Amino acid sequence: MKERKGIVLAGGTGSRLHPVTLGISKQLMPVYDKPMIYYPLSVLMLAGIRETAIITTPHDQAQFKQLLGDGRQWGISLTYITQPSPDGLAQAYTLTEAFLDGAPSGMVLGDNIFFGHGLPELLARAGAKREGGTVFGYRVSDPERYGVVDYDASGAVRELIEKPAKPPSNYAVTGVYFLDGSAPEKARSLKPSARGELEIIALLECFRKESSLNVEIMGRGYAWLDTGTHGSLLDAGNFVRTLQLRQGTQVGCPEEIAYEQGWIDAKELAARADIFGKSDYGAYLRGLLDVPV
Ligand code: G1P
Repeated sequence: MKERKGIVLAGGTGSRLHPVTLGISKQLMPVYDKPMIYYPLSVLMLAGIRETAIITTPHDQAQFKQLLGDGRQWGISLTYITQPSPDGLAQAYTLTEAFLDGAPSGMVLGDNIFFGHGLPELLARAGAKREGGTVFGYRVSDPERYGVVDYDASGAVRELIEKPAKPPSNYAVTGVYFLDGSAPEKARSLKPSARGELEIIALLECFRKESSLNVEIMGRGYAWLDTGTHGSLLDAGNFVRTLQLRQGTQVGCPEEIAYEQGWIDAKELAARADIFGKSDYGAYLRGLLDVPV
């Protein structure tokens, strides 16, 4: 059985964050003290995924490469793939078809931030399922902005609907998707929606119609944060700052995850800490080396 591979979708124009995103990709902007893409990449690493494709626009690719390199520093492998035009999230699967080479995948949207005790276990459970797909329903106050889960009276999923004007529930489908090796083939069969996009929800519906989609609830103990507007980006940054200051731990720290997963050793972690010099991030990495909890 092939190892599950990762995808971080970091394309798009970030038009809701103009003018800031005229000069820089949205997913490179800071969420408090780290580039946004650190957070979704950390999610894949927590899920145990070591081989990941980063999808960007053609013109932003060089900056992503400069930031993340080939992944060796975290004991993972990163591949870069361009999305020439943002034609929908499901397009990620046709763009990565050769990279995935039949393997199951875990995709995270490059602007989605997840946090919660038990997240690694939740992700590991989803990742362990070899057939079909797993996505997560998360309660939000504004479901009309998302893909939404329609449940029947028995609690079974009736349908997933993209941005319904009248949402059938408050459960939004989050931007992390675990799908089996059939995703690229299914994505190729999709037709553009009314807004001209290959919709991820339409792809998930293909799995649901085959009774192979598992919609798990990501409960109230988790944070799923949006960074789509200036306000929500600021809120996400403040959330990360509050937690980090209070606990003295980092949210979305790839070095820490790589070290805990055993993908880099103490010497490699120390070398990373040196790169960050006197910054708080560097001090945190050095701290990981001397202190047992
Ligand atoms: C996309 C998906 C939607 C999902 C959301 C999660 O929406 O189309 O189904 O709930 O991401 O962030 P978009 O952000 O492209 O509007």
